Formats: sequence, C-alpha cells, structure tokens
Amino acid sequence: MRIPLRPVVLTGASGALGRELSRRLGEAGWPLVLTDIVPFPDRLPAGARFISADLNDGGAVVQLCAGAGTIIHFGGVSTERPFEDILGPNIRGLYHIYEAARCARARVVFASSNHVVGFHERTTPLDADCAYRPDGYYGLSKAFGELLARLYFDKHGVESVILRIGSCFPQPRDARMLATWLSYADLTRLVMCAALAERVGFATVWGASANARTFWRRDDRAVIGWQPQDSADPFIPVLENRVSDNPVAERYQGGAFCAIDYTRDRG
Ligand SMILES: NC(=O)c1ccc[n+]([C@@H]2O[C@H](COP(=O)([O-])OP(=O)(O)OC[C@H]3O[C@@H](n4cnc5c(N)ncnc54)[C@H](O)[C@@H]3O)[C@@H](O)[C@H]2O)c1
Repeated sequence: MRIPLRPVVLTGASGALGRELSRRLGEAGWPLVLTDIVPFPDRLPAGARFISADLNDGGAVVQLCAGAGTIIHFGGVSTERPFEDILGPNIRGLYHIYEAARCARARVVFASSNHVVGFHERTTPLDADCAYRPDGYYGLSKAFGELLARLYFDKHGVESVILRIGSCFPQPRDARMLATWLSYADLTRLVMCAALAERVGFATVWGASANARTFWRRDDRAVIGWQPQDSADPFIPVLENRVSDNPVAERYQGGAFCAIDYTRDRG
C-alpha cells in the first residue's frame, strides 16, 4: 500500500485503538504525528512524533494539525458518561478538529460509533443512511460529529470518512459482538483505505468485520475500496449463549449502553 506524503495526525494515540494504530501504521512507514492528553505509553514508532494536547484547546489542535494531510480522529471520551464529561472532549473537541482540518485542508477519518443508532432494534437491519437513534450522551456526541463532518464538507469541502465502529477488541466477548466485532487488522486496513482513497467526499462505513450475524447492510465502503477480511463467526459456538439478563440491553443494537439510566416504562 502507498504511504501518505503529508503528515498524518492521530488523536487518541495513547488509547486502546490509538496504540494499535500507532504501531501498525508506524510499521507501515506512515509519517505520524501522535497526540493525546496523556503520555504515549509505548516506544514511539520510527519517524513518529508525539505532541501532548487537550482537544478542548482549539489553538493547540490547529497548531498540531498544521501541514497535515489527514487527521485520524480517535481521541475523546469513548464510553457513556455524564453530559458534562462528554461536552468538552467530544463536542467542543470535534469542532476544534474540523476547524483544524479546514485550516490545513486535511481529510478527517472520524472514529464514530454504532451508538449513534443504538436504539434501533437488533431485528432491524440498517443501512448507513438510516435515522439516528443515539443510545446516550456518548452516542449523541458521535452523531454531532457526523453532522459536523457533513456541514464541513458541504460548506468548506473538508472530506470525511465516518467509521461507525462496532466493537473493536482483540476478540469478540459476547453474543452481541458476534454481530458488531471489528478485528484490529480490519480496523487498520479500514483506516488506511479511508486515508488513501483518491476522493471520498463525505462517506460513512460500518466498522465491523465480515460477521454473518451483522445488524448492518449498505454503506460507502466501495468509495474507499475496503472489504473486511476477518470474522467473528468462528466464535459462534462459544459465544452465542453469552447474553445478559437485561431485556433492554438484549433488545437494542447498542446493548448495555441502552440500559444505562433507562427509565422508560414500556408497559
Ligand atoms: N473500542 C471500540 O470498540 C470502539 C467502538 C466505537 C467507537 N470507538 C471510538 O474509537 C475511538 C478510540 O477508542 P478506544 O477504545 O481506543 O478509546 P480509549 O478511551 O482507549 O482512547 C481514547 C483516548 O482519547 C484520549 N482523550 C480523552 N479526552 C481527551 C482530551 N480532552 N484531549 C485529548 N485526548 C483525550 C484519552 O486519553 C484516550 O487515550 C474513540 O473515539 C471511541 O469512541 C471505539
């Protein structure tokens, strides 16, 4: 695969997925600018730099993205939290990322989430242009990010690939992940395709491996030329009965996130 000519900023570099991507993209020789609010815990890949920055600090974000061709945005709060905790990193921070992309004329590869559509029932197969049904403040912040991406393409021509990541872990862990699992290798190839594709405009791709039990159908993967190569299917015999005893979590695509602070009486 080609190597990007201009620097590639990776936010959230010290997080679980950021560390994987740092190592794998570093090994592929990508010109990385790694950033996070906490120190990078591993040895820096050859040719990479690490710059500490808070996504809340717009000036710092614009500065670290100056000259970049791609911003791989994986930083921020990555789970359901109170609204005030989400607001800074995931709402204001997103705005700073898009302003930085506009200034640098960079493409954004945005780690969105299946939790933007978490309140669709598991029995409803979804296309990527389905209605938003966020399952918490976290999912809502990702939906904000997707709409911000749309706005910045329509108004400023800033290109984005939205990755609606399912469950990205070394292995699937329960029955829900038989549908939602994304392997680290498929994630890496997805990010590479999203960054390297000639023209993407505004594209949305379900971030899941080739799982027979998927909840998801059509998306823009052909635009970036990505196909998953891994699958959760070999785990079906060991995981298909690993379910929770919470009917809300089991009913909806977002799983346990849907059940957090759930007070609706469905009768
Ligand atoms: N892991 C998954 O299965 C999954 C699924 C869907 C979406 N995602 C998204 O992918 C991205 C990476 O996920 P992860 O599992 O590696 O999460 P993570 O929590 O391990 O990493 C997120 C990183 O963002 C950094 N961060 C938080 N606030 C910040 C701030 N104010 N300024 C700068 N950096 C800040 C954290 O220090 C952390 O290193 C996240 O955006 C997450 O929402 C992940």
